[in-house]
Amino acid sequence: MVKGNDMAQTFGFDLLATDGRARTGRISTPRGDIRTPAFMPVGTAATVKAMMPESVAATGADILLGNTYHLMLRPTAERIASLGGLHKFMNWDKPILTDSGGFQVMSLADLRKLTEDGVTFKSHIDGSKHMLSPERSMEIQKLLGSDIVMCFDECPALPADKARIAQSMELSMRWAKRSRDAFGDRPGYALFGIQQGGLEEDLRAQSAEALRDIGFEGYAVGGLAVGEGQEAMFGCLDFAPEQLPKDKPRYLMGVGKPDDIVGAVKRGIDMMDCVLPSRSGRTGQVFTRHGVVNIKNARHADDPRPLDEQCSCPACQKYSRAYLHHVYRSQEMISGMLLTWHNLHYFQQIMQEMRDAIAEQRFDVWEKGFHEGRAQGDI
Ligand code: GUN
Ligand code: ZN
Repeated sequence: MVKGNDMAQTFGFDLLATDGRARTGRISTPRGDIRTPAFMPVGTAATVKAMMPESVAATGADILLGNTYHLMLRPTAERIASLGGLHKFMNWDKPILTDSGGFQVMSLADLRKLTEDGVTFKSHIDGSKHMLSPERSMEIQKLLGSDIVMCFDECPALPADKARIAQSMELSMRWAKRSRDAFGDRPGYALFGIQQGGLEEDLRAQSAEALRDIGFEGYAVGGLAVGEGQEAMFGCLDFAPEQLPKDKPRYLMGVGKPDDIVGAVKRGIDMMDCVLPSRSGRTGQVFTRHGVVNIKNARHADDPRPLDEQCSCPACQKYSRAYLHHVYRSQEMISGMLLTWHNLHYFQQIMQEMRDAIAEQRFDVWEKGFHEGRAQGDI
């Protein structure tokens, strides 16, 4: 399809193929396309830690995630806006999705106070006092220049009783409406709603209906991967994605390990984000097609082999396990750089393999191979 100038300015989603509940498609934005299922590396503080932006792109990432909470505190959204926006500030010209801040306030900030209007809190950095509401979160995400803006929501820690989960979900739906109203009409930019409701099918259905009534460019499944375990999460993903519109992207927030990602895609999820590949890269935990490698283990000290013989990333093409072990033990910066690159490359490799498998109607066979290739424990 040839796109005219008008089309290039719009945000859209094309579902290209399905295989069972798994989907592959393309999100189009003025800053470029996002191939789905997509994994978004986390660039919380205007950097994917230990990675140059061009290296992040080289791993195959089409989009990355930034955080309202961190950036509003430091260096502030107003400062980023006056410097030309987040893309220019961090030298990343592809799409950026920003989370709305509420979830991070609940896990990171001090002295939080939640009301119908929003939340006041003290910064975990310097104790200064701040406020976030649906309106303020939309304003900050606009100042940042985020391509995909997330609704301001509240996510209760699990386990919680059903009445508390229902109350919280209903508040998030009122905030979703306020987010939609404050976001307004911004062609080329997208606002995603966030479904809540814990593990309860009826609450998830109510939440989905409230969001569909408001109308969004995409829909997230929120409130999962908060301590419920993989079995319970998959149980919820057996119904939650299908309660959301088929013709819009579905984003599972904060997930996950490679097998979580595969299970989510199998259940109809199109987008995910997680700090795991980047954070683990800095703590010596390496994800490979054969399972997890702990590079700090003394077994690697004399091992001339690469991390993964079949991996085409720089860490595997140019360095031995012995070298990676040495620089990890010596706390050299290149350790975090190489291991993060490998991990992000591996996550993107899985996404590409899933996109191909879904397009060719062989997701089940691919998934079987994925699980069979993985050993238990350190390899
Ligand atoms: N990140 C992981 N889970 C959530 C959630 O439920 N809401 C938001 N805003 N961010 C998240
Ligand atoms: Zn590699």
